[in-house]
Amino acid sequence: MSDYDFSSSRNSCACHCVKIILSLGVLALILWLSLRTTKPKCSIGDVYVRGLDKSVNSNSNSSNTNRDNHISFQLNLKNEMKDKSVRYDDIKLNFYYGTNTSYPIGNYTFDGFKQGKDKEAFKSGMIETHNMPWDKAIKDVSNGSKAIIRVDVSSRIKYKITFWYTKKHNYFVENKIELDDNGKSSAQQISCCFRVFGLITTLFVLSFLL
Ligand SMILES: *[C@@H]1O[C@H](CO)[C@@H](O)[C@H](O)[C@H]1NC(C)=O
Ligand SMILES: *[C@@H]1O[C@H](CO)[C@@H](O)[C@H](O)[C@H]1NC(C)=O
Ligand SMILES: *[C@@H]1O[C@H](CO)[C@@H](O)[C@H](O)[C@H]1NC(C)=O
Ligand SMILES: *[C@@H]1O[C@H](CO)[C@@H](O)[C@H](O)[C@H]1NC(C)=O
Repeated sequence: MSDYDFSSSRNSCACHCVKIILSLGVLALILWLSLRTTKPKCSIGDVYVRGLDKSVNSNSNSSNTNRDNHISFQLNLKNEMKDKSVRYDDIKLNFYYGTNTSYPIGNYTFDGFKQGKDKEAFKSGMIETHNMPWDKAIKDVSNGSKAIIRVDVSSRIKYKITFWYTKKHNYFVENKIELDDNGKSSAQQISCCFRVFGLITTLFVLSFLL
């Protein structure tokens, strides 16, 4: 009798443990799915550099005194998540001539904003360049090849998961813009350097909750 009771309670205990482990596993999976985040996509489009437009500058000399030194552009941010909105702090854009950061030519800042689920935002801006290496740029586009402008987009973002916000994450995207001798960006070539935060955050939260 006592033997029977003993084995029965052992069995039910083991059974219980398996159930707990299974439900924790399912809970972890559900949490992981609902806490998983995707960084917003970013690109720079509609770029126009009047100073490189040959139809405007055809009769100007290599002296760059009268060259228009503005760059107009459009920032595109896209939140592809269907169940989470994104809150951006101020969005800073750093412009450089070429692919590295050796020639900074200007900055621009967009105010932070909230972007709803599955939404896309287009924001237009214009900078007045400083120390733009015009001679180099004109030489770069003169034989039909491209001048390259690099735009680093950075911000701090947080995600809204049903009722609460996550902690802030660094957001950084490096854009490469190729300009032709019309001063326009042709096929946009975007290289995005997303850092993987989502999974790490999720694991952190899980280790906290379980
Ligand atoms: C360019 O400059 C040269 C001398 O520096 C001058 O002779 C010429 O007329 C100028 N051309 C134009 C289109 O301004
Ligand atoms: C940046 O690129 C230019 C040519 O594109 C090169 O001359 C320069 O050394 C580079 N600077 C750095 C810090 O890599
Ligand atoms: C652009 O911003 C950087 C820092 O983000 C700063 O060092 C630099 O001086 C700024 N350049 C201009 C032209 O304002
Ligand atoms: C244009 O000139 C650059 C150097 O200034 C050179 O690297 C490139 O190959 C040239 N492209 C053409 C199409 O001639």
